[in-house]
Amino acid sequence: MDTPEVGAPTNISPDAEVVIAIKGLCKSFGEKKVLQGFDLTVRRGESVMVLGKSGSGKSVLIKCIVGLLTPEAGSISVLGEDMLALDHDALDRIRVKIGFLFQSSALYDSMTVRENLEFPLRRHWIAQDGNDSEALVREALENVGLENTIDMYPSELSGGMRRRIGLARTLILKPEIVLYDEPTTGLDPITGKEIVELILRLQKKYGTSSVIISHDLNVAKLAANRIAVLIDGRNHAEGSYDELYAMDDPQVKPFFIFM
Ligand SMILES: Nc1ncnc2c1ncn2[C@@H]1O[C@H](COP(=O)(O)OP(=O)(O)O)[C@@H](O)[C@H]1O
Ligand SMILES: [Mg+2]
Repeated sequence: MDTPEVGAPTNISPDAEVVIAIKGLCKSFGEKKVLQGFDLTVRRGESVMVLGKSGSGKSVLIKCIVGLLTPEAGSISVLGEDMLALDHDALDRIRVKIGFLFQSSALYDSMTVRENLEFPLRRHWIAQDGNDSEALVREALENVGLENTIDMYPSELSGGMRRRIGLARTLILKPEIVLYDEPTTGLDPITGKEIVELILRLQKKYGTSSVIISHDLNVAKLAANRIAVLIDGRNHAEGSYDELYAMDDPQVKPFFIFM
């Protein structure tokens, strides 16, 4: 679609570099069509949210973006690279620039917080590259206000603290783009709000662009420059929170009714 973007955020120039361009993405599992021609553009510094019901294909979308799932049709360009054409090594190199916060924090229970945070550094050989990994770990923990947990195990932390450690681990590689899958799910509303505020603060500090996948309207209101509504496998409607709220679309309306 070449129609102009609806409700592009006021603080992001429409000429800003496109960091993610998704066009006509299709992904099925057997007979089940999940994505059916999904389009999305994300510009540098933007925070775009994909809002969709449970089971609508939000996690599938994120997994396609990072190359964990292969779509049948469509294109995905990330930082100018054609993600569907990259070989294993090239994919690995670009993945350093794309942070991914899973739905669950996915920390390793048998490792301390320090070891959990060192893991991506080792995985991408950053620990060996003359970098001071201890300093990187401490900076990452300081960012989320949890310096004192460095020698603790995940089981000793609350759900909110684990989520913050997960965030610290995602950001330790200083990715240019971060994909958040349901960052507040399973947390109480106050802790969820704290996580969103933390995400925004760190996004500003490091100038990252982000895609936030969620069904949480509070997240939409707080965190998104722009919201895309995923319905029937497509980007059904796009705009700011206020624009979507005011939209007279029977499929969009239900998202904006608070229970
Ligand atoms: N690996 C898979 N194999 C088969 N079906 C899958 C797989 N991953 C997801 N699905 C199906 O795709 C649909 C969308 O899933 P998902 O993206 O996880 O939804 P959500 O929007 O809640 O994140 C669901 O019906 C799910 O059962
Ligand atoms: Mg999901």
